[in-house]
Amino acid sequence: MVRIAPSILSADFAKLGEAVKLAEKAGADLIHVDIMDGHFVPNLTLGPQLVAAIRRETRLPIDVHLMVENPRAFVPLFHEAGADWISLHVEATAHLHKDLTMIRGLGRKAGAALNPATPIDTLKEVLGELDFILVMSVNPGWGGQSFIPSCREKIRKLRDWIRAEKREIPIEVDGGIKLDNVEDIIRAGMEIVVAGSAIFEAPDPAGVIRAMKEIARKTP
Ligand code: DX5
Ligand code: ZN
Repeated sequence: MVRIAPSILSADFAKLGEAVKLAEKAGADLIHVDIMDGHFVPNLTLGPQLVAAIRRETRLPIDVHLMVENPRAFVPLFHEAGADWISLHVEATAHLHKDLTMIRGLGRKAGAALNPATPIDTLKEVLGELDFILVMSVNPGWGGQSFIPSCREKIRKLRDWIRAEKREIPIEVDGGIKLDNVEDIIRAGMEIVVAGSAIFEAPDPAGVIRAMKEIARKTP
């Protein structure tokens, strides 16, 4: 089943509670929260206090995407704040195996995120430690960028590789996903759809979530 994970990065930060409730009511499956530290990516966003506040507003799993250097240092803070899924970038850590094991040890779902230029083979030795893989389809830092076309083939290769390895690791895709390309990317292998600006900058965000779910339901 394809899941929809609205990214609140494009929501009105003064009304995050409302945005999260709207997403839940419209049928979202996860709430995607982007954490940026101004070092790993040039932008700054949210911290654990905001995740704890969002935790109080929704029963949906919170999917924390750590775009930070030294992610290991922050994992316990986001765990305490109520994150359910935690992904960190392979480019940001020298100890990917140790970090994924740490997340799982805390009882959370562990994900590795790949920048567009990072090959999928970097995950070869940690496939057994992964609950999901996050493929970035834009260079991380901002919402509202365009999907990088070569990422489609990367997602397809990753899906085929996971199948060949007889594993069940869902592929989450993040960046530039809109109503007009979501079907194509699902066909390539995306199982968790992150969408920020397509949802929260639309006049009817709930309508976009429902439309994405409907496209996902109809796409084999
Ligand atoms: C970008 C973030 C994304 C962002 C996606 O660095 O990781 O989650 O919110 O935004 P859109 O869907 O607008 O590309
Ligand atoms: Zn993200």
